Amino acid sequence: MAVLITGGTGYIGSHTVAELSAEGVDVVIADNFFNSKPKTLDILREITGREIKFHEADVGDKAALEKIFSENDITAVVHFAGYKAVAESVSKPLGYYGNNIRGALALLETMGERGCKSLIFSSSATVYGIPENVPVTEESPLSAINPYGRTKLIIEDMCRDLCNSDDGWSITLLRYFNPVGAHKSGKLREDPNGAPNNLMPVMLKAAAGEIPELGVFGNDYPTPDGTCIRDYIHVVDLAKGHVAALKAMKKGVHAYNLGTGKGYSVLEIIETFKRVTGADLPCKIVPRRAGDAAECWSDPSKAKRELNWEAGFSLEEMCKDAAAAAGLLL
Ligand code: UFG
Repeated sequence: MAVLITGGTGYIGSHTVAELSAEGVDVVIADNFFNSKPKTLDILREITGREIKFHEADVGDKAALEKIFSENDITAVVHFAGYKAVAESVSKPLGYYGNNIRGALALLETMGERGCKSLIFSSSATVYGIPENVPVTEESPLSAINPYGRTKLIIEDMCRDLCNSDDGWSITLLRYFNPVGAHKSGKLREDPNGAPNNLMPVMLKAAAGEIPELGVFGNDYPTPDGTCIRDYIHVVDLAKGHVAALKAMKKGVHAYNLGTGKGYSVLEIIETFKRVTGADLPCKIVPRRAGDAAECWSDPSKAKRELNWEAGFSLEEMCKDAAAAAGLLL
């Protein structure tokens, strides 16, 4: 019996593999290394001390999926694999629909055919669009404001339709807020192929002197210091959320916010990062980035109630662990 982890060598996927393995769960990874590196597999085997089965495969390739299901006794799937860069999704929408939707469809079809009907899907707070009210609950209105977000919403809809059509399915939609930080070993971390777009990886590059400065996207938002507020969550907390979700799987489709329930502004993150790392972090206020909500942070109480999970790491630990894994701490 094993759990298939698609995208298991990526940022959140690899941390989840580490946490599941630590709980004694046998995992099988499928990944095509589109946005990850083969060395992550060696690191996972070293950290967990376990032989982790791996298939180099594109999740949209049904023949490859069928092979994986025929060679392993897969009882549940955690589906991370997908493209996730918001700006790129605007310039290459068909690439995003093609990859993300095709992957989910091929996976759900294969799972159904094989009688494996337990899925955890990597959704995102992006499904709340620009929230009307914060904190957002799972009942907040759903909308998408870019093709990436629409792929998440479409896949959530596919899961809802599937559960309506067949009561044999158990599907958990985990809506992640802003994952940051890294594994305590310092060996697993966010290590995207290509230029980063998200705040923490850009901050790390600016602190390392690899880019001249961090551009802060706007300081004229209706927030106390004028910069956007987000719910940053340590990636290890997020990974543990998957362990909790797997233990609590139940029939039907169920959505959960995985966040801390606290919002921090961009300037607060920068200040915290500088304080805990002692790093020099050159910053400059630049114009707003299109599509950014002023505030997006979670009400995570449903996950606490039903999954018996809550985030434990502080913002200081998130900054410290991210900087340590990037080699910025002595
Ligand atoms: N920011 C900067 N400068 C940068 C990068 C980001 O000021 O160089 C700011 C953004 O304007 C935003 C905050 O930092 O206010 C966080 O931005 P990120 O790009 O790190 O994260 P987002 O909140 O925009 O998006 C993230 C994920 C999405 C997901 C979304 C859900 O990247 O995949 O959270 O809320 F959909």
